[in-house]
Amino acid sequence: MPLKILMVCLGNICRSPLAEGILASKLPADKFNVDSAGTGSWHIDHQPDERSIAIAKKNKVDISNQKGRQFTTSDFDAFDYIYVMDNSNYWDVIQLVENQEQTEKVKLILNELFPNENMDVPDPYFGMPNGFDSVYKMLDKACDIIAEKLIEKHC
Ligand code: 4NP
Repeated sequence: MPLKILMVCLGNICRSPLAEGILASKLPADKFNVDSAGTGSWHIDHQPDERSIAIAKKNKVDISNQKGRQFTTSDFDAFDYIYVMDNSNYWDVIQLVENQEQTEKVKLILNELFPNENMDVPDPYFGMPNGFDSVYKMLDKACDIIAEKLIEKHC
């Protein structure tokens, strides 16, 4: 059975769809399954934000077929690793855990790149036009490290 990794942000239209597409592009599809979800419910069934689709496409990653969904408590057992984009997502998700095993699955994605610094992937939704480019770059670097670790551990 493939190992399952979930990327989580607030809306599931800007950051976590990018994280899903980027990580999936770095892993063999037969061994790993990458998905994403939002803690909020505004964008259920929506396509990712057009600016996320565009920056991914520029980097040869296609996220246009993704559909927004909301994080649910069943995700704790369905997924092996859960990466959240910022501290607010972290607390929203951690509030829902029922045991220590579930707690340990939840990690801030940028701690892979900057261990123990608890940094946020900034939400580009209302921000600067180049926000999507900088978010893409930081997620790409974090996903390089995640992919390397996962392949080493599970392949
Ligand atoms: P995301 O960005 O969490 O990176 O998908 C957001 C997108 C939409 C909203 C919030 C954050 N919203 O409030 O609609």
